[in-house]
Amino acid sequence: MCGIVGYIGPREAGEFLVEGLRRLEYRGYDSAGIAVVEGGRVGVSKTTGRVDALNRQLLLDPLPGHVGIGHTRWATHGAANDENAHPHVGGMGAVAIVHNGVIENYAVLREGLESEGYVFQSETDSEVIAHLIANCLERQMAGVSVGVSETEIRRNPHATLVAAVRTALAQLRGTYGLAIVFRDFPDVMIAARLGSPLVVGVGHDEHFVASDALPLSGYTEKIVYLADHQLAVVTAKTLRVVHREFGAVKPSVEVLQVDTGDRTLNGFDHYMLKEIHEQPESIRNAMRGRLDIENATATFGGLNLTPQQLSSINRIILTGCGTSWHAGLLGEYLIEEWARIPVEVEYASELRYRNPPVDPNTLVFAISQSGETADTLGAIREMKRTGHRTLAICNVVASSIAQEADGGVFLHAGPEIGVASTKAYSAQCMVLAMLALYFGRMRHLGFEAGRQIIDDFQQIPQKMQEALSTNAQVQRVAQKYRDASNFLYLGRQYNFPTALEGALKLKEISYVHAEGYPAAEMKHGPIALVDAQTPSVFIVPQGFVYDKVMANLEEVKARGGPVIAVVQDGDSRVAQVADDVITVPKVSEPLQPLINVVPLQLLAYHVALLRGCDVDKPRNLAKSVTVE
Ligand code: G6P
Repeated sequence: MCGIVGYIGPREAGEFLVEGLRRLEYRGYDSAGIAVVEGGRVGVSKTTGRVDALNRQLLLDPLPGHVGIGHTRWATHGAANDENAHPHVGGMGAVAIVHNGVIENYAVLREGLESEGYVFQSETDSEVIAHLIANCLERQMAGVSVGVSETEIRRNPHATLVAAVRTALAQLRGTYGLAIVFRDFPDVMIAARLGSPLVVGVGHDEHFVASDALPLSGYTEKIVYLADHQLAVVTAKTLRVVHREFGAVKPSVEVLQVDTGDRTLNGFDHYMLKEIHEQPESIRNAMRGRLDIENATATFGGLNLTPQQLSSINRIILTGCGTSWHAGLLGEYLIEEWARIPVEVEYASELRYRNPPVDPNTLVFAISQSGETADTLGAIREMKRTGHRTLAICNVVASSIAQEADGGVFLHAGPEIGVASTKAYSAQCMVLAMLALYFGRMRHLGFEAGRQIIDDFQQIPQKMQEALSTNAQVQRVAQKYRDASNFLYLGRQYNFPTALEGALKLKEISYVHAEGYPAAEMKHGPIALVDAQTPSVFIVPQGFVYDKVMANLEEVKARGGPVIAVVQDGDSRVAQVADDVITVPKVSEPLQPLINVVPLQLLAYHVALLRGCDVDKPRNLAKSVTVE
């Protein structure tokens, strides 16, 4: 994963690079660094930790210059320390690179380069790229492996350079998004992509490079998305795109579409808290223009499927990672219930390497907030390769998954900055509920039932607003259990995914072990964990399985486990048994997860805060995981 930026033009490169890295920190924040070419040397400044730390370092020891690259890292190979931070320099300072991705054959390459005398400074897979390019460049310059004619060099002074980079890239196995600068060619920067997104921003006498469009907003609106195997050779005034094997490609310049939205804290202490509170509004935005009351259904502008294709669907696969996968699980319950279409929910990381039998009438939905998750992207590519239609449920409009899918639905949740997903999750659940209604109304679901579901949908924002008022109650519960080392989260049916999501939130931001389980399944193992120090969070809405969940709750109490219960307004029974009760408003049974998740998000938030954790940037995680 990691974030990459590059700049060439009249500005002070360092200023753009640091600002760009701040915007990319959601991709990782283990370390940060920049390299700037100036006065016959490549100056490098890098440090463990956040972009703020890098900025402080640069204020003391600036790196002036007009061409440079930058990186914010999420460690894959090698610890998060100064040596492993990017940029990496190759060949005694001739080349500097920043890399996003994983080089699978780095060990073999490193061995070869070390035997030729190259000295490595880090444990990363990435450093090998810097030395390899330097090595190929030395060979090209010495005329060893050239293949670049004198005429070509006269026509294009960077031909040798490009040939060297192409030769080096051909030896890499794995994935890369790369930005490269050269000590002896200060007027050029090269970017290259294979399996890890990269964009070039075209400015007025300047060019920008970044791992996604976010850093470019406000600098240029003209953007070129590089495809796999393409290299961009940029000077301040020119942009050439070259396929690694087949040569020149005509770049297609698109208009930048970045949801710049509200990125301030707006009075909240953390983005996560702000985003939890934005949910009533983001749910309204997800529904806006999509409810067709007259026909008691939902409408979607971007599915890009013909009525024949829609009616012939006989199976749906929902795929995603992390929180998005949990939203998929709720989607499964709703689509099967209302539309009677069989649904499978697959971890994208599993789906991409499995070979499941998938018939032509299977529709695949990729669910992803960022639209950049490498495994989810890999899964839809695999599905597309085998001829299946893939649709995206994404929040980020210009993202890779949104672009590569055949169509889809945007969440319109606005930028989500906190690493732990909250408002995107509820918006995903809402969109999946609307899709379930849509597919249902195309099949067996009657008009009256459709109307009732729409009425239920329309209540959600207000009821979510009311659920937010549990905050003080949740805070007290968090205070009581802040030192627990294990939590169980238990729910049944529609609220089983809610239990998983509640447990994931706690794990992600407070580093407390938590397991989400179907309440009844608990007795087949996790019940062994129950003791006086292990709180169980039960989700106990009224409805079909109420009595069953109550029985499971009693089983925990009988073994001395403390119970925190999330119940609906008007419930008095649970309070007689549970130690702590959090009461949320009542909505229709299938939609109750949208309300129940609110106090669970708040619980994770408050526990994390009380334990002194960095809520918005939890350790070891990143918002967008662009490596598999
Ligand atoms: C990372 C994040 C999770 C997120 C998952 C999937 O692991 O830390 O919060 O749920 O990626 O991200 P996506 O952008 O595809 O929804």
